[in-house]
Amino acid sequence: MTAEILLPEGYSPGLEGVIASISAISKVDPAGDELIYYGYKVSQLCEQSNFEEVSYLLLYGKLPTQKEFSEFKKKMLAERAVDKKILDYLCGMPEKAHTMDILRSGVSLMAHFDLQCEDNLRDAEVAKSIRLIAKMPTLLAARIRALKGQKPIAPNDNLGHAANFLYMVDGKEPDADFAKALDVSLICYAEHGLNASTFAARVAASTLADMHSCITGAVGTLKGPLHGGANEHAMHMLLEIGEAAKAEGFIKEKLKAKAKIMGFGHRVYKKKDSRAPIVKAWGWKMAKKLKNTKWNEIADIVEKTMMDEKKLFPNVDFPAATLYYLLGLPIEADTPLFVVARMPGWCAHVMEQRIGNRLLRPESFYTGPESRDYIPISKR
Ligand SMILES: CC(C)(COP(=O)(O)OP(=O)(O)OC[C@H]1O[C@@H](n2cnc3c(N)ncnc32)[C@H](O)[C@@H]1OP(=O)(O)O)[C@@H](O)C(=O)NCCC(=O)NCCS
Repeated sequence: MTAEILLPEGYSPGLEGVIASISAISKVDPAGDELIYYGYKVSQLCEQSNFEEVSYLLLYGKLPTQKEFSEFKKKMLAERAVDKKILDYLCGMPEKAHTMDILRSGVSLMAHFDLQCEDNLRDAEVAKSIRLIAKMPTLLAARIRALKGQKPIAPNDNLGHAANFLYMVDGKEPDADFAKALDVSLICYAEHGLNASTFAARVAASTLADMHSCITGAVGTLKGPLHGGANEHAMHMLLEIGEAAKAEGFIKEKLKAKAKIMGFGHRVYKKKDSRAPIVKAWGWKMAKKLKNTKWNEIADIVEKTMMDEKKLFPNVDFPAATLYYLLGLPIEADTPLFVVARMPGWCAHVMEQRIGNRLLRPESFYTGPESRDYIPISKR
């Protein structure tokens, strides 16, 4: 019989409820009523702002004046292109390489081309953040095209961040509603407190590692299905369900088998995720425009079944999956789009961590054998 381990007071598996940093960037309210970025309601930002302005807000902690915003947008446009060597290398990676791995490697490779890579002072950090935010859609679009055997399309300076991404995927200027729908989802995904990937970025930042190293770690952390990977898993599930009539039975079976349904539940939110209805509304709007509401209907039944059976609500990843599918994007782009969106949030946290930095170094409670003598291999 194994002896019961007496856990130390304060131990919190998964660091649940532990306050590991102070931050002014966003407030994740457990009631799920409203998410705010530097005090501004995300619901209002979705209605009245755009991803570029939200990026400015996250990097500078305030909304820009007209002049500041024009300069910021100019800098973003100037940084959209990705070095050809990086594009050629990453677009040539094996087809089966996960697109998240391509973006993770992309961030890492970009470090070698960034002359300010080792400069952790504020001005350089902002410049690197702008570069990372601006370049990520270009890299993702190029990889999506490479998987179809197509050459990359150069960014279009006349288009905003979201519209330009859609343009770089298929070479067509997107419908304004499509671009707005994507833009709204990017705003919703842009920042979310001390989630796992942001924590990973802050841990790296606390060691005084450079911005690209911090972000590389964040991208790798986001890939997991319990975090950003949930959106693509959710879409695969909807496709597997295939038709509305099968949705309820499918979910009940999965729950009976104790499977987790991706895109539901949350570590902090216990009742709802305020971002989900915003993205869901845009998903329905796009579906009606396209006269293809099938996936939204299946998703609604999944939602109802999860609420009835488990009292679990959808998080933002669930409606994002359907929306991206309706926008004609391949499923492997779902989690990478989360990278595109979360970049300003991660960068803001890296810069915030630098202020009054203290190395993030928790402790573990040792449960292994007590000290014992080494036995030479010949005597074992
Ligand atoms: C996000 C998540 C990891 C947070 O979970 P957590 O705080 O660690 O909560 P737990 O995983 O301990 O879950 C608590 C209970 O709810 C259940 N649960 C939580 N999320 C669930 C889901 N998506 N599907 C089915 N059951 C779920 C667990 O099985 C557990 O049930 P039990 O007490 O009967 O064992 C979890 O909800 C999850 O895995 N969701 C799916 C992945 C996802 O959508 N991630 C994106 C988050 S934005």
